[in-house]
Amino acid sequence: MISKDLDKAKEILEADGIIGLPTETVYGLAGNIFSEQAIKRIYEVKKRPLFNPLIVHIKGIDQLDLMACNIPSKAYQLAEVFWPGPLTLVVQKQSQIPDWITAGKQSVALRVPAHPLALALLQKLNFPLAAPSANPFSTISPTSAAHVEYYFNDLLPLILDGGECQRGIESTIIGFEDEVPVLYRHGSLPLEEIERLIGPVTIKNRNNVAPEAPGMLSKHYSPKTRLVLVEDLANALKKFEGKKLGVLSFGSTPNYKEVTCTEYLSVQADMEEAANQLYAALHRLDQANLDLIIAERLPDTGLGRSINDRLERAAQS
Ligand code: TXA
Ligand code: MG
Repeated sequence: MISKDLDKAKEILEADGIIGLPTETVYGLAGNIFSEQAIKRIYEVKKRPLFNPLIVHIKGIDQLDLMACNIPSKAYQLAEVFWPGPLTLVVQKQSQIPDWITAGKQSVALRVPAHPLALALLQKLNFPLAAPSANPFSTISPTSAAHVEYYFNDLLPLILDGGECQRGIESTIIGFEDEVPVLYRHGSLPLEEIERLIGPVTIKNRNNVAPEAPGMLSKHYSPKTRLVLVEDLANALKKFEGKKLGVLSFGSTPNYKEVTCTEYLSVQADMEEAANQLYAALHRLDQANLDLIIAERLPDTGLGRSINDRLERAAQS
């Protein structure tokens, strides 16, 4: 059921249940971090491999010291500037954080979501919420309550309706290795903004170089329809002539007659708008019975880098 009923959400979560939770990035599948039953249910519903740990959502920066220890000064700096917001910090966990959240690791991933409904709910609860994105493992992430309902219709007692996600792609994940900041996932907070505050960050967002971030599998965010990522749309259209084609265009493109449907991420070629539209556009293209989705690569800066990362993973077969 889709609703805005915070009291109902609280009741379900306090009884070890799980719900669909809006955040500013994507919707999450949320449960009490201290409830083994709730956390098992999250893994089961999502069909997520058990080695892949969950992000813990806390209500404010004052919770950081309760959840983590030996926190690098750069982590505090980042939290102060970017929380609430789309930044996840991987830090050493306090012993009270259960192993079922961290997949047995000694680190924990933390963030304060910048969504009024999520924050209001966290304020009502006396425990943080674990929440992975509310989509089955490796599929397109949800940016509306309707997307969550499409995936998990009968499996969730409640999907909290927080409207369409403002950011539209997941949080950026930063950890520390010997106090050196490391990026594990490109996301809604552009790397440039992070580096402006704390200096250079090492990028380790491929699973071959980052066993510390087990979730960064190369195939991810995938539509059921085959997707190819290209530099040059006109050229790609020639190559796939005769197929039922969909196009995911960044800015405006000519109206190609051989294309069945086109989704424009941002006619003005605005990166923020493109990030906001990405998953909804992919969901629509995936439902259009196409043979192939041709996605146009964005300029590789700012949010363009995060969007390209998602498209590259969506294109893995
Ligand atoms: O924007 C977001 O971050 C959304 C919303 C719901 O908050 N959540 C999200 O969760 O994207 P999920 O589970 O789809 O992705 C979490 C990522 C995974 O790649 C996981 O491996 C990584 O965070 N992660 C979690 N704990 C970690 C840890 N201790 N060390 C390294 N990576 C960790
Ligand atoms: Mg996810």
